[in-house]
Amino acid sequence: MRIFPDSISCLVLLLLSDLIGLSLSRPAHSHAHSPALCTLFISMVQHVDKLINLSRKLHDLSDVELTLVSGANHRLDSLLEIHHTAAAFSSMKINETLSQLHNFSESYRFHMDWLNTARENVSLPSQPTEGASRHLQQLTHLLDSSLKQLQEEVPQATLPSLPSLPLVSSAFDALEFSVEISGKLRIFSLWMKRSIRFIQKRSGCPRR
Ligand SMILES: *[C@@H]1O[C@H](CO)[C@@H](O)[C@H](O)[C@H]1NC(C)=O
Ligand SMILES: *[C@@H]1O[C@H](CO)[C@@H](O)[C@H](O)[C@H]1NC(C)=O
Ligand SMILES: *[C@@H]1O[C@H](CO)[C@@H](O)[C@H](O)[C@H]1NC(C)=O
Ligand SMILES: *[C@@H]1O[C@H](CO)[C@@H](O)[C@H](O)[C@H]1NC(C)=O
Repeated sequence: MRIFPDSISCLVLLLLSDLIGLSLSRPAHSHAHSPALCTLFISMVQHVDKLINLSRKLHDLSDVELTLVSGANHRLDSLLEIHHTAAAFSSMKINETLSQLHNFSESYRFHMDWLNTARENVSLPSQPTEGASRHLQQLTHLLDSSLKQLQEEVPQATLPSLPSLPLVSSAFDALEFSVEISGKLRIFSLWMKRSIRFIQKRSGCPRR
């Protein structure tokens, strides 16, 4: 499978951050274990797993076809990407990370709904985009609830100015955008999963 150049360094960081996460001893006064929070985290991971699966279904291309539809064209600059260092991960603040995940989920849902319309317009199947949008919406709700549990203010206007996204006129264009969003969604989902696992550990949630 074709991997975006950015994805490789990102995956390395994910692995690194996991190692660092494991080597960190739990802070003495970590957030007290809250069963309600832990339940929210478990649901989040379930939705993230669904997203990881769905990200593959956003296109149905073979490796060879994928190289032709050159997904390396990053054209959706408004779709946020994770730029995280392993160091930032180790010093992560739970509230800030949850808030960031919330913002990203909103952004991905916005782009997913746009892609869904684009695909419908050119008669590409919309089940994967509809499914992904639904799971992103659920994640936003769960992140919202977890921030409320932590008595943090939930970000009000997560998308300060909604980006205007291009008109998609051909099936090839829609496919190209699907490939791009698929790759970014996969990286985002993997990062989100690591982050939630990390927070679960930090919060003293029982291992499943
Ligand atoms: C992801 O897809 C695989 C294969 O299609 C399936 O076995 C697995 O249960 C799916 N996982 C989730 C969380 O949907
Ligand atoms: C997150 O919590 C820390 C203390 O635990 C606080 O200093 C910080 O301001 C909070 N950040 C946000 C964005 O609320
Ligand atoms: C999330 O978005 C809100 C509103 O745009 C912003 O105030 C907040 O700083 C963002 N949080 C993070 C962690 O980026
Ligand atoms: C889909 O078609 C509608 C109606 O023609 C149009 O308004 C909309 O911008 C199109 N969406 C995309 C993403 O091209």
